Amino acid sequence: QVLILDFGSQYTQLIARRVRELNIYSEIKPYNNPPEDLSAYQAVILSGSPHSVRSEQAPHPDLSAIKGKKPLLGICYGAQYLAHFNGGNVAPSATREYGRAHLSNFKANEPFLEGIKEGTQVWMSHSDTIKVLPEGAELLASTEDVENAAFKLKDEKTYAIQFHPEVYHTTEGSKLLKNFLVNIAGLKQDWTPAAFVEETVDELKEKIGKDRVILGLSGGVDSSVAAMLLHKAIGNQLYCIFVNNGLLRKNEYEQVLEQYKGMGLNVKGVDASARFLDALKGESDPEGKRKIIGKVFIDVFDDESQQVENATWLAQGTIYPDRIESVSASGGPSVTIKSHHNVGGLPDYMKLKIVEPLHLLFKDEVRRVGKSLGMPDNILGRHPFPGPGLGIRILGDITPEKVRMLQEVDAIFIEGLKKHGLYDKVWQAGAMLLPVNSVGVMGDERTYEKCVALRAVESTDGMTADWVNLPYEFLQKISNEIINKVKGVNRVVYDISSKPPATIEWE
Ligand code: XMP
Repeated sequence: QVLILDFGSQYTQLIARRVRELNIYSEIKPYNNPPEDLSAYQAVILSGSPHSVRSEQAPHPDLSAIKGKKPLLGICYGAQYLAHFNGGNVAPSATREYGRAHLSNFKANEPFLEGIKEGTQVWMSHSDTIKVLPEGAELLASTEDVENAAFKLKDEKTYAIQFHPEVYHTTEGSKLLKNFLVNIAGLKQDWTPAAFVEETVDELKEKIGKDRVILGLSGGVDSSVAAMLLHKAIGNQLYCIFVNNGLLRKNEYEQVLEQYKGMGLNVKGVDASARFLDALKGESDPEGKRKIIGKVFIDVFDDESQQVENATWLAQGTIYPDRIESVSASGGPSVTIKSHHNVGGLPDYMKLKIVEPLHLLFKDEVRRVGKSLGMPDNILGRHPFPGPGLGIRILGDITPEKVRMLQEVDAIFIEGLKKHGLYDKVWQAGAMLLPVNSVGVMGDERTYEKCVALRAVESTDGMTADWVNLPYEFLQKISNEIINKVKGVNRVVYDISSKPPATIEWE
């Protein structure tokens, strides 16, 4: 496997993903808390960083256990760090070197550059530049503006590149990573979804033995794949609980429950709609609603898990990005924008041990694993849906009538996307019920009814997002259908805000 030492670059996760796309397992660790035992790693990659190597505050870790001992690739800051501490000279560049560049002046017969075209496009993003290479370095390639764009240290498997092979704009970035990892470090490309399933199932069997495990299903991809992996490992020792909080999509509770049962899972459906809606009565503050939904969920889940005798484990669908220890550029804690509710917040008194079969995977890898487990596309391809459900899409206070209205609107929108072949082109879509009435006219009647906003975004991880340019004809059709069919709604708008500064959900 590959160790990626994170110096705080915004692209570090992308490096890990690119390596894994080559079917080679990689892990990210913060530079200031590296693993003590390095024996499991066959290669090391140093990430970029927002810092300048010349600054006192910049990461300056001791690499003596790695450099010259294991194949090592420095990317951007990583390359400058290797140059700076081996006697080279790194200085501010006259202009910030940012954007596309072309790599040429290749050293002949260099395995690192095997199969790469002279002039290939690479992506630069740095303000320091390597003016003088360290002693014993060999120049491998240059760009128009950056002479020392790639180099290696003689008699070592130490390589350094100023550009970012992990970003999409570096056309042959994956090939370069493959050259380093396979040609130079000798790693095998055998980390496939099937291999992951086999290994994880063995581990789970070993870890859990004859114990009983409880898992909260949400209908989403992560908890469903986690459940299937556990089911494969321990069969009916797995007890799944699927809670209807009354804020799910139209007919979702019944449909998803059926589907889970069809997949052989041991699932108990708990319809707690009334309990949630009662607790929410009169609350209109977004954080207040989130807290209530989170708390009632824990109460319901707690009650239900008491029914499973002798359960000792709680399984969660936590994935890798949720738990990467990140190196924040500012060093300070981040502000809570929204308090997310997940099964993770269970009280300590439940005393259950935690098992997280997906804790090593990125979202797209979870889908690939699901596919290799034979799970249906309509579960694996589902848009993300927030834990508090329609509760944070009904702005202001929640009533059963508002839930009904929004479920109808949402169903027309989502069905429409599917019918027009747009569902899979959108990362997430949904509708918001706004707390405003406006005047309309229907037939000869004056109406004074609710307004709904439709939202469809593209994104890769929900951290940033952009609104989707849905065809006008489609929006026109959906708007007509909503106003004609959903009693109480007389106006439809489309949200054209990106994240940031807006968020995906309105609350
Ligand atoms: P925002 O609104 O913060 O949403 O831009 C980013 C992504 O997170 C989802 N989301 C949640 N998911 N529990 C969840 O499991 C929550 O409380 C929650 N709030 C927002 C949102 O749907 C989007 O995909």
